[in-house]
Amino acid sequence: MATATTREFDVVIFGATGFTGFFMVRELLVSIDEKPSEYSGLKWAVAGRNLAKLDETLVKLGQELNKDLSKIPKIEANVNDSESLQRMAQRTKVLVNVVGPYKFYGKPVVDACVRSGTHHLDISGEPAYIESCQLEYDAPAKENGALIISTCGWDSIPNDVGVHFLKKNFDGKLHSVESIVRLIPAPKVGYALNFGTYQSIIHHIRGFFEYLRLHSRLYSEVLTKKLPKSRIHLPLKLLPFTQPSIPGWNLVFPGSDKSVVERTQYYNFEHFNERPVQVQTYFNVATFFYMVLMVTLSGIYTPMALLRTGRFILERYPEKLTLGLFSKKGPTREQIDATRFQTYIFGKGWSKDPSDPTDSDPHAEPSRPMDKSMTVLVNGRDPAYLATSTAMIQSALTILKDRDQMPKGGVLTPASAFRSTKLVDRLQARELTFEVVANF
Ligand SMILES: NC(=O)c1ccc[n+]([C@@H]2O[C@H](COP(=O)([O-])OP(=O)(O)OC[C@H]3O[C@@H](n4cnc5c(N)ncnc54)[C@H](OP(=O)(O)O)[C@@H]3O)[C@@H](O)[C@H]2O)c1
Repeated sequence: MATATTREFDVVIFGATGFTGFFMVRELLVSIDEKPSEYSGLKWAVAGRNLAKLDETLVKLGQELNKDLSKIPKIEANVNDSESLQRMAQRTKVLVNVVGPYKFYGKPVVDACVRSGTHHLDISGEPAYIESCQLEYDAPAKENGALIISTCGWDSIPNDVGVHFLKKNFDGKLHSVESIVRLIPAPKVGYALNFGTYQSIIHHIRGFFEYLRLHSRLYSEVLTKKLPKSRIHLPLKLLPFTQPSIPGWNLVFPGSDKSVVERTQYYNFEHFNERPVQVQTYFNVATFFYMVLMVTLSGIYTPMALLRTGRFILERYPEKLTLGLFSKKGPTREQIDATRFQTYIFGKGWSKDPSDPTDSDPHAEPSRPMDKSMTVLVNGRDPAYLATSTAMIQSALTILKDRDQMPKGGVLTPASAFRSTKLVDRLQARELTFEVVANF
């Protein structure tokens, strides 16, 4: 078997025929065009279960970018055929995997990559899949030198890398962070998400109790170190609330961000003796009316997702039941191009005070009240397809360029895998920006 340093391809995009896969291939082509001196020698291929469909994707993209993409190599691989996955994994250094929902399709691909010592990136936002990968594959991935990094899309690069960015700039002791993610569709154009994401959410709810069991196994079998406790608890705001600097209402964010940022805190404590920060994550809805609607629909659909018949109905009528938020056709190109997102990360802690005896001890908590705040704003284009593709493809390019600055292998969060690399610079150059907007 060729080692990960001497492979036929640098990157393979698996699932290139999907709604998100199309934007992944587009982002890679644009990145190569923007920096030919860095990337023109890149060897890459697209992969999927249907070669004719891969051709169609390349023709469509070629027309849009005015390029002949007929020479881009194609690889046939099917999640249901483990040998095809193994053959694909052995040909590349980095596998960008866009075949989801990952609950159904993810593990066999991770398995093939771990066995082949191939780095695997995905854009899952499904905590059960992500944490079970850590339980099963962390040890063999370390042994084989494979980086297995989930949530390299909008879930959870803005939050996870954003919290790390805030921590690096804080200049004091950071106690906790609260984040609020906000979608900003253009007026009158609206927005929708593709069915693949809808299915992932339904099946995340369906497996929620199984996830709780997995989560407690992860923290009792793998992440077993006791983290330093804080005397100040950061409560979860269960009721909708407003935030002075952001219009609209905020609700608990049920995605993967909190689980990912907490795993990063564990990693930082274990490997860098850093004080873990407490985390709560929220999402924003634009008006009081939408907030009430969202709470009401979640109250009805969450129990439905737990039942087989309920799931059947939810999957049958996505447009009608979500008032157009999810659709089998996905968003239009106009909607994608006109939408933006923001993630606000609010940090609180203590400023430096050399006269305080706790100042030099990374784990000791000052007894004085917290006196320092910092806000980081992460800004980007359409979150689900454009920013997600930017985050994923720039992560793949970062592995190729900054491999020496990364851990040897293992199942890692984005912020723990990329903390010493130039990922943030690459994201900023592609309109996914991180900025300190308040510091007092
Ligand atoms: N983190 C984020 O922010 C974010 C954003 C967007 C999407 N996502 C996630 O990305 C995933 C994909 O979403 P999507 O909307 O792009 O879905 P999609 O359009 O349905 O694409 C799914 C892809 O998987 C492929 N596939 C399905 N079964 C396969 C099999 N047995 N073997 C090989 N390939 C197979 C499909 O191939 P065919 O074309 O041949 O059917 C297609 O390429 C979902 O899990 C979604 O939640 C995450």
